Order: sequence, then structure tokens, then C-alpha cells
Amino acid sequence: MAMRLAIYILLMCCCTLEATVSSSTAICVKPRGKICSINVLNEDTSRPTSLLPDLTDRVELHVVSGQVKALTETNTRSSNMEKLRILRLEGLGLESVFVRGHFEELHLRGNRIVNLTITGSDTYSLKVLDLRKNQFANVTQLQPFERMVELKLDDNQITVLALEPFSRMTQLRLLSLAGNRINQIVPSMKPFELGELEYFSLARNELVSFGTANWQLPSLKELLLNNNRLVELPDIIDFEQFFSLEQLALGENDWSCSWLDRALGSVLKPDSETSIKLDVGPNTECASEKVAGICCKFTISSSNVDAPTTASGELFVQEIRQARQQSEKLTAVHDEFVRSWNERLKVLHTKLQNMLVGLMAELQVNKPVTVLQVKQLSEDLEDLKKQLISLEKDKHMRDQMEKRLRHFMIEMKNKLLNQTIETDKLLSQVSELRYSFDKQIMERTKENITHV
Ligand SMILES: *[C@@H]1O[C@H](CO)[C@@H](O)[C@H](O)[C@H]1NC(C)=O
Ligand SMILES: *[C@@H]1O[C@H](CO)[C@@H](O)[C@H](O)[C@H]1NC(C)=O
Ligand SMILES: *[C@@H]1O[C@H](CO)[C@@H](O)[C@H](O)[C@H]1NC(C)=O
Ligand SMILES: *[C@@H]1O[C@H](CO)[C@@H](O)[C@H](O)[C@H]1NC(C)=O
Repeated sequence: MAMRLAIYILLMCCCTLEATVSSSTAICVKPRGKICSINVLNEDTSRPTSLLPDLTDRVELHVVSGQVKALTETNTRSSNMEKLRILRLEGLGLESVFVRGHFEELHLRGNRIVNLTITGSDTYSLKVLDLRKNQFANVTQLQPFERMVELKLDDNQITVLALEPFSRMTQLRLLSLAGNRINQIVPSMKPFELGELEYFSLARNELVSFGTANWQLPSLKELLLNNNRLVELPDIIDFEQFFSLEQLALGENDWSCSWLDRALGSVLKPDSETSIKLDVGPNTECASEKVAGICCKFTISSSNVDAPTTASGELFVQEIRQARQQSEKLTAVHDEFVRSWNERLKVLHTKLQNMLVGLMAELQVNKPVTVLQVKQLSEDLEDLKKQLISLEKDKHMRDQMEKRLRHFMIEMKNKLLNQTIETDKLLSQVSELRYSFDKQIMERTKENITHV
């Protein structure tokens, strides 16, 4: 009897266990409430539709850990998530996510997301999308999300950045695209006009140049372009065209000195009305020159994209290096002088001190002072005085010379800078001329062919 009962209980246990496993793959930590937090979510490959528990009345879903390959349309439809607005699914190995029209915030950092999928017919409420550290590459997929406010796409695989999808997001305030491999920006057909955009980062990409002719970003406060390979931004005459700009990061690029000098012209003026804070990046030694603390190069203008790349070398590298070496030598000479002068002064000081000590000793003994002693003393003092005067004279001459030298060096530097800037301008004109000449020849040739 007891035996039979035991077996019966055992069987009951097994049955209930099996039942719980198959009816729900994951559970919300709290059975009720606006937020459903799931500690571990793993995909059950045998039952792909029932990924999530019932989410009726839940507003926010937070999955703490697990492994899930995709959030598909099927699993969003099978869990009653009609009220769900906020999803936090970070570091789960997700490769694609289906976006429902009523989702407002998607926090998807640290997955492997390549695609965001949609049905295509919905209108979307998505306002916040955090896709940092994923494998996302195709920004066209963001086109339908016209209500976006905060878009973080840092550290993904974007290489070509089309502006079209963003120019529809009229409420966009933050657009961060740092740490991709963007080497090309495709302008939009419409003006790139984002009235609310305050933060725009293209830092840590592979940009060489891009057009900004139709950019209208009146609220832009922070613009980050550091760590690219930018040489110049041909359409920017003056950064004050972004009239709300407060912070501008330009460090670690390949800027042309003459362009930088021009574009930052009004920003750098001491009486400038704007107060743009320049972020120049780490204070590294520049290969050649600096403008406003930003390393730059004297290069031939890159505006002619057809020019062979070998022609756009850096200029005056040799001269700048020589000047720097000379200046280092001068500094060394100066330091040596200061050292020896201090040495001589110290010797003199010691001598005087010794004399004083001797004198005091003699006075203490109260011996009568001889005429000879007084004479000797006054001679010694006279000698010391002469030495001091000669030292002072030396120093004065030295100071004068140094001042003159410094003026001379500053003048030379200005001249060199002026010359290089003029040369740079000339070179850029030449390359433009060549470009228009080439174009004319091409057009003529075309004409001849069509006429024949
Ligand atoms: C992403 O979408 C592309 C085409 O739209 C498709 O070829 C690819 O397999 C998708 N990748 C994933 C991980 O879903
Ligand atoms: C990018 O996404 C759009 C929209 O989903 C699609 O039409 C296009 O084919 C994709 N492009 C590539 C290169 O995958
Ligand atoms: C450079 O020198 C030329 C002629 O000496 C002068 O006209 C020009 O204003 C100078 N440019 C700068 C930027 O100082
Ligand atoms: C075009 O044709 C004219 C006369 O037929 C000739 O003189 C000229 O050299 C041609 N131009 C080019 C660029 O081939």
C-alpha cells in the first residue's frame, strides 16, 4: 500500500513538472504591474512562437539575460503586447527585431542586430532607439520611424550614410553615429533640415570630406567630427552658420591648415559674439602645424577629386622640421645661459657671505682694526661690486638679445605661415583651373563626337 502511494506521488510530481515547463518558457518576475522583468530568456527552438510570456497590460519589458536570435513578428503577436511601449533587450545576441507600431522605446545595445523588420503599413511611434554596439549597416531601414527623438547608432557597421531617412525625422534631437566606418555621406533630395536637432556626432569614422550645402540645423549645439580623415568641408565658410553651436570637436583629422584657419576665423576672434567651445582632442605633438590647437597640414586642396592622389602631398614638412630643430637649439642655449648665470651668482653670494662672517668674527674679538685691514676689506668689497655689475650687464645684454631674437622668430614664423597659406590658395586655384580645363576639353570632345 505504502509502496503504491509513493509511486503515485512520484508520478504526480513528474506530471506537474512537465506541465509547467511546456506551458510557459519564461515568466515575469512580478506577476502583476506595468513592468515585466524576465531574468533569463532563452529560445525554445521546438516552440518558436511562445518566446515571451503573456504581456497583457504590461507597458515595459526588460530582459536581464539570455540568448535569443530574433524577436519575430510571430512572437510579438502571440503574447498580447498591445500596451507595450518600452523594450529593454540588451546583450542577448539578437540578430533582428520586429518593430510594432506602438513601440516607443527600444533599448537594444550590445546585440548583433543587422535588421529591424516591420510590416510596412503601420505608422510608428518609436521615439528612442538605442542600437549601439550592433551590426547594423542599412540606415534606410529607419526611414519609417518619423517620430524619432533620440537615435543612437554608435559602433555599428555603417559605411555609407544616406541622409534621406533622417531628414524625415522632424522631431529628432539626438543623432549619434560615432564609431562606424562611414566614408561617404549621401545628401538627401530635400534639404537636411532638422529644426530640433541639438546633438550630432560623426566622430570616429572614415570621412574625408562631405557636402553640407543644404544642411539647416538651427538648434545644433554639439557637433562632433573628431577622429576622421577630414581635410576640409568645402561648403562651410564659417562654423557660425550653425548659430546655436556651443561645442565643436574637430581633433584628430587631416585638416588643411588654410581651410581650418578660414573656417574657424570668426570663432577664434577674441571679440566674437559666439562662445563656441573647441574640443581639440588629446594634446598630441602635431606632425606640422596647429591652428587653434588643432593639428593640420599644408596640403594641396582636395577639392579636385579627379586629381591623382600622389599629387596631394604635404607641403613644407622639411622647412617646419628645420625651424622646430632650430628653435629647440635656441631653447637649449638659453637654458644653458640661465644655468651658468645662476652658478656665478651663487659663487658671488658665497664669497660675500664668507667675508661677512669673517668680519663679524673679528669684531667680536674686539681687536683694534688696523688701517691695512680696512683697506683690504674695502678693496675686496669694490672687487665684489665690480663682479656684480659685470654680471648684471651680461644679463641685460642677454635679455635684449633674446627679445630681439624672439621678435625675429615670430616674424619669420608669420612670414612662413603667410607664404604657405598664399601658396596653398594658389595651388587650389591651379587645381580648380585644371579641373575646369579638363571639363571643357571633355565637353568639346563630346560635342565633336555628337556632331560627327
Ligand atoms: C537582413 O536583411 C537582408 C535583406 O533585407 C537579408 O538578406 C539578411 O538575411 C537579413 N539578415 C538577418 C540577420 O536577418
Ligand atoms: C536596406 O533596407 C531597405 C529597406 O529595408 C531595403 O529596401 C534595401 O534593399 C536594403 N539595402 C541593402 C543594401 O541591404
Ligand atoms: C600676407 O602677405 C601679403 C603681402 O605681403 C598681405 O597682403 C596679406 O595680407 C598677408 N596675409 C596674411 C594672412 O597676413
Ligand atoms: C573638334 O573638331 C574641330 C574641327 O572639326 C577640331 O579642330 C578640334 O581639334 C576638335 N576638338 C577636339 C577636342 O577633338
